[in-house]
Amino acid sequence: MTLTEQEKQSLIDLANEARRRAYAPYSHYAVGAALRTKSGRLYTGVNVENAAYPTTICAERVAVFKAVSEGEHEFEVIAVVTDNGGSPCGSCRQVLAEFGLDTLVLIADGRGRLIKQTSVKELLPEAFTPKDLKI
Ligand code: THU
Repeated sequence: MTLTEQEKQSLIDLANEARRRAYAPYSHYAVGAALRTKSGRLYTGVNVENAAYPTTICAERVAVFKAVSEGEHEFEVIAVVTDNGGSPCGSCRQVLAEFGLDTLVLIADGRGRLIKQTSVKELLPEAFTPKDLKI
């Protein structure tokens, strides 16, 4: 799978647009994600915070769960945008790992600049995945 620079940028832009809809009244740290499946479908996500703080969910997991709830399990790439180009949290890495270690991860800042291009495998070495449950 090779993504053109233009394809990467449009996924980042989509995540950055979604970021405007982040519900982050507590942290004020808005996160947007855009996930492209192998079938070419696009799912966005934003962080949704809660007055009961730990109930908050991250943008990446919203995007993944939206995709899975529509029957999509095979992901190609996810773009994650924050003001400062922050990296996906451990829980999001684990959720992404469930659906494949080769998913590309594009980390960008609020100006839409690609800060880092990596993969789930790189972000979560020695991941615990479904294959570990098979005897
Ligand atoms: N957050 C995400 O949406 N994704 C991450 O990978 C890191 C953290 C959100 C959760 C919370 O709403 C805010 O950023 C601050 O932690």
